[in-house]
Amino acid sequence: MKTLEEWREYWSQKSGSDRIALVDYCVDGVPLTADEYHRLIVSPNLDQLETSPGDDVLEIGCGTGLHLDALESVARDLAGTDLSPALLGAYQGRARTFVCEAARQPFNAQSFDRILMAGVALYFPSDEYFESVLAEISRLLRPSGRALISDMLFGDFVSRSAYRFYKIDSVMKMLDRVGLDWQINNQNSVKRTLNKRYNIIIQGSA
Ligand SMILES: C[S@@+](CC[C@H](N)C(=O)[O-])C[C@H]1O[C@@H](n2cnc3c(N)ncnc32)[C@H](O)[C@@H]1O
Repeated sequence: MKTLEEWREYWSQKSGSDRIALVDYCVDGVPLTADEYHRLIVSPNLDQLETSPGDDVLEIGCGTGLHLDALESVARDLAGTDLSPALLGAYQGRARTFVCEAARQPFNAQSFDRILMAGVALYFPSDEYFESVLAEISRLLRPSGRALISDMLFGDFVSRSAYRFYKIDSVMKMLDRVGLDWQINNQNSVKRTLNKRYNIIIQGSA
């Protein structure tokens, strides 16, 4: 498995102008089209995030800002953070953007009504790192808020994969240790046409 520094290097050496290819959303090596990306990835994620007009929204690991584009019309404050300046540089919208790692977000406690982290946890260097990101989400989420962590891979480590697979029992224990109110769901049938991953939904502690 890669370390955080190796992943930082991987994402930071990316170049090109296709914002979908830059974040590696490909099937058999071919990037999804913009329509496919919206239908299969962005739209199901935003349905689960349940953002209301005027919400303050953070996307952790926002990459080239494909979800930020769709959130611009509904969010009040909109922020996106990512490990890779190269990917963030491909985003031109109105969100405030910051280069930082998921476990160290540059915001005050309880700053956000909605937090999205889509397709990011599979690139984390360890289970402990994932737990530290959960603690960061808990710190940043308002009591009435909601967070979506999408694309969790559960099961045994697949030897040819660079992705992190998590033990579902360990993740449930981490969520409880951090004190979160959580659910783990199958991704919906649209997203299941792409792959077999799971979502974690976190409710604030109102
Ligand atoms: C597959 S892309 C997903 C991008 C975006 N969330 C989307 O769905 O379009 C994974 C993103 O996670 C970011 N990332 C990976 N590990 C990270 C970490 N430890 N901290 C912050 N960002 C990270 C990468 O730089 C990359 O932009």
